[in-house]
Amino acid sequence: MKRIAIFASGSGSNAEKISAYFSDRTDVEVSLILTNNPQAGVIARARKLHIPVLVFDRKTFYESERILEILKNNNIDLIVLAGFMMLIPTYLVNGFENKMVNIHPALLPKYGGKGMYGSFVHEAVVAAKEKESGITIHFVNEHYDEGNIIFQTSCEVLPTDTADDVANKIHVLEHAHFPQVIDQLISQA
Ligand code: GRF
Repeated sequence: MKRIAIFASGSGSNAEKISAYFSDRTDVEVSLILTNNPQAGVIARARKLHIPVLVFDRKTFYESERILEILKNNNIDLIVLAGFMMLIPTYLVNGFENKMVNIHPALLPKYGGKGMYGSFVHEAVVAAKEKESGITIHFVNEHYDEGNIIFQTSCEVLPTDTADDVANKIHVLEHAHFPQVIDQLISQA
């Protein structure tokens, strides 16, 4: 059995889609969902799916290696960041080299880096009058949005689209592709 841990800070719709995708499988499971945000919507979604949730604080994440220990104790093979807002500390990058992936709601290297998250990304895309946007799934290193790219796909941005319209299109792409890309990666993990 291959075991996935998902980190999420917000609503968790991607976490839910990924968990549901693997729920009938006997070879892969989402074993643990971790969040830094005690108010995150992902907590209720995880409970509904009967997946254990761990809420941790900033100090634990940055000033100890407790999270790595927990992941190792749970025999986690792959970490998935799905709307996780904190920079990953070195000990965790090193502990899961090429075994940690993130999804970014734009076509990196455009619209990435510090401060480029959530609606800020889509507002910037609309302000620049881009004709397309998309999603990027990439390995995680110590810099925001800079690890090697694994997968990208795009969608059209119409001149009349608002940032919310773009966000909706991006979520559709994420939900359609992220679980499948994870499935391919985990089979090699
Ligand atoms: C997604 O758009 C993801 O690309 C970004 O944060 C959003 C999370 O959405 N990093 P959700 O919490 O999975 O609904």
